[in-house]
Amino acid sequence: MSEWIDACAPDDVDEEDLIRWDHGGHAYAIYNTEKGFFATDLMCTHEEQSLEEGLVIGCVIECPLHGGRFDICTGKALSAPVNTDLKTYPVKVEGGRIFVQV
Ligand code: FES
Repeated sequence: MSEWIDACAPDDVDEEDLIRWDHGGHAYAIYNTEKGFFATDLMCTHEEQSLEEGLVIGCVIECPLHGGRFDICTGKALSAPVNTDLKTYPVKVEGGRIFVQV
């Protein structure tokens, strides 16, 4: 069953950036984009590469290893070599905290 988990404060994530968030033995990425906050799996779907040092460009995350890109809002794989979408998670901001539904 999914539940909302208090992950961090909005100020913890710089604009146009992401942070790593670990919960329940799983690593997530929390993004601050021009469209708001979003969450995805941390690991690229191409190889076991963390997206933590990746580049956030608008609502796109670029993997630091081979430059594959994903839509942060939908997780959709946008450019080679990635062809498997990134899993996304619902996010809400409430009472000055960011909650992720996992
Ligand atoms: Fe991310 Fe290759 S590991 S594009």
